[in-house]
Amino acid sequence: MEDLDPVYIQAPEHRSDSNFIPNQPEEIPVIDLSRLDDHDDVQNVISEIGDACEKWGFFQVINHGVPCDTRKRVEKTVKTFFDLPMEEKIKVKRDEVNPVGYHDGEHTKNVRDWKEVFDIYFKDPMVIPSSTDPEDEGLRLVYNKRPQFPSDFRETCEEYARHAEKLALKLLELISLSLGLPKERFHNYFKEQMSFLRINRYPPCPRPDLALGVGHHKDADVISVLAQDEVGGLQVSRRSDGVWFPIRPVPNALVINIGNCMEIWTNDKYWSAEHRVVVNTTRERYSIPFFLLPSHDVEVKPLEELVSLENPPRYKGYKWGKFYVSRNRSDFRKLETENIQIDDFKVAT
Ligand code: OGA
Ligand code: NI
Repeated sequence: MEDLDPVYIQAPEHRSDSNFIPNQPEEIPVIDLSRLDDHDDVQNVISEIGDACEKWGFFQVINHGVPCDTRKRVEKTVKTFFDLPMEEKIKVKRDEVNPVGYHDGEHTKNVRDWKEVFDIYFKDPMVIPSSTDPEDEGLRLVYNKRPQFPSDFRETCEEYARHAEKLALKLLELISLSLGLPKERFHNYFKEQMSFLRINRYPPCPRPDLALGVGHHKDADVISVLAQDEVGGLQVSRRSDGVWFPIRPVPNALVINIGNCMEIWTNDKYWSAEHRVVVNTTRERYSIPFFLLPSHDVEVKPLEELVSLENPPRYKGYKWGKFYVSRNRSDFRKLETENIQIDDFKVAT
């Protein structure tokens, strides 16, 4: 067996075989959104989404309205980009000023991920706080990096991101309805949204038993809309007992998951699940998540409508933008301490 650089080695309790029980009869739900065209079925779809958000924090959707050919085009162009020599790719490398573009050294929970990524802001430029200091109200603009090759890269990714955003907002309406809230409850939160599209490439790995494509984590966003290819490897931890389940690739489906913001807004009714990516020795894998993120000034705290004397808020609020800038510092290098987590905002009980 080839040696693996120790920076990639996961602690034994986080490796791909830990708490994974193969051949479980249960599956993460796959919901057909074309059923929304049938008036008599709309309410069922809404409650199935609500149940999935509560039980798993994950589901897949089919007939979701993101055109197949747009997805095929983006899959093709990103592969052309990642196949370029490293000298080309690092021309659009992420830096401390603009934390987007190409990157091959991300750390999740301080262990290096076996992957390379390319991030693209949905809004270019995007507005973010200029510092992590809560008293400092300064803002700055951050800009996308644009690879010169392939020439359609930027346009194709942006087109795909527009469709993914539309779907994310549609799902957000259905989620609001499932909570008994007005459909537009969350609309104001996205005026200066900090959403971004990420392209993940997981190269074949000599030791998938020790390394992970992405270590166990929760997404910090509102909801994620992820296109995965046919290779497979994404796993989710079941809310009730922490057992890991595979998210099986379903042709043309998109994987949806609840992020920390939604978990906090719903005061833990909806679940932001831990997930991870297992790699393999022979095949590269691609996935393209769209992370729906609020504007920098949105306060992430349990919604008033969803708390009561019997169900008091479980989190103190935080400003989304400040959380993002604090979090982003840690993507570059291994830190001595764990980076900021939503549990830091939990109310002591
Ligand atoms: C992520 C992630 C899963 C995948 O990028 O946050 O969880 O299947 N990706 O690549
Ligand atoms: Ni994730």
